[in-house]
Amino acid sequence: MSVKPLFDTFRDYLSLRDAEVLRDCLDRFDWNLSERNLEANSLPIAFRLEGLEDKAGPGERGLVQQFLEYRDRLRWFQSYTADDFGEDFTSNYGFVELIGTRGHFASDEIAAGIVCFGPNTIYPHHWHVAEEFYYPLTNGSLWSMDKGPYEPRKSGEFIHHESNAPHSMKTEDTPLLALFIWRDGDLAQKSDF
Ligand SMILES: [Fe+2]
Repeated sequence: MSVKPLFDTFRDYLSLRDAEVLRDCLDRFDWNLSERNLEANSLPIAFRLEGLEDKAGPGERGLVQQFLEYRDRLRWFQSYTADDFGEDFTSNYGFVELIGTRGHFASDEIAAGIVCFGPNTIYPHHWHVAEEFYYPLTNGSLWSMDKGPYEPRKSGEFIHHESNAPHSMKTEDTPLLALFIWRDGDLAQKSDF
């Protein structure tokens, strides 16, 4: 089943962001992508996101709501196994690649989608060759860059990770949904940690 309406909302959200480095990346991007016929699957995290639209900022709420509505039509991925960060982590984490080398819409230029974390979850410091842009879509998460202190980040705040810069995030009571974009490097790389 097509997920084009979700893709359109995702594209429209990004078209309104004004961070210069992101505009530099996306203003040249050709959004005319072909949709893969991916079989939907699921992960435990997909069912731990009820009511999360109430934790999103006004500009993010529509995207969060639609993402939640599409949960059971999407292809969910995990880059890690329980051997990496434990079973608690793998049952509280997953992502959907809307655009990319594996995702719903085919691109070799960027990988982009939405990553989800359950409550009271730590995603330990990790790094990857691709440069990364993030917009948390929900409030209440804490982020650390270059192994610095964890800082609260709001829904709609722009976060930029340079190539191979260590970064980490953690949640408290509220799950986290975050929009990510990778560019350059291996777009399907498993992060080092
Ligand atoms: Fe990352």
